[in-house]
Amino acid sequence: MTDTKVSTVVESDNPALAFLLNRQSCHKLLAPGPSESELDLIVQAGLRAPDFMSLRPFRFLCARDEAGLTRLGEALQRAAIASKQSEVIINRAPKMPHRAPLILIAVASLKPSDVVPVLDQQFCASSTVLMMQLAARALGYGGVWRSGWPMYDRNLHQELGLTEVEQIVGFLYLGTPGHPDHALDPEDPQDFITWL
Ligand SMILES: Cc1cc2nc3c(=O)[nH]c(=O)nc-3n(C[C@H](O)[C@H](O)[C@H](O)COP(=O)(O)O)c2cc1C
Repeated sequence: MTDTKVSTVVESDNPALAFLLNRQSCHKLLAPGPSESELDLIVQAGLRAPDFMSLRPFRFLCARDEAGLTRLGEALQRAAIASKQSEVIINRAPKMPHRAPLILIAVASLKPSDVVPVLDQQFCASSTVLMMQLAARALGYGGVWRSGWPMYDRNLHQELGLTEVEQIVGFLYLGTPGHPDHALDPEDPQDFITWL
């Protein structure tokens, strides 16, 4: 595993487990973002999401650097206007993507199947987001999975060229962490388990 730039706050002798136990998001993301080859690795990790019958029910849109983020911001603003969002949202839309140097938009792209339900395919696509966030972190980058109104907005989907059977499942903002990891609140896993 590549050395991470983030500090570990939960101890484990097992490096892979320590990595998982300390996963956290980073909301302040600075340049530089992942390079081309690092992006390939991140997406490759996304492709390792569990995928029932290997339907590959996903694809990714990528916006990076000033030009790409501005194009995405303009699309967001056109969609906000078309969807009659509030003045505040319309004015904020162009700035939204500029919170990170790179954004991956994970799209659930449903494949015809008599076996794999729609929800399973959407779960598969959304699993890619976490896989990619983890891979980015392993490379030393911070990230945050965002949704908000744009995730569900059909006008934005149209702006981005999504078809009727496609749905955004996450905006993964990636960049250099702008703050260190915070201490994690201790939680008891047993509180989340019901024994049958
Ligand atoms: C489907 C999904 C959508 C999310 N959307 C947002 C969002 O729009 N804005 C936000 O601040 N956090 C959002 N989050 C939560 C963050 O990704 C993050 O998990 C949260 O800030 C807690 O931080 P942690 O991951 O370090 O525990 C979303 C998480 C998921 C799974």
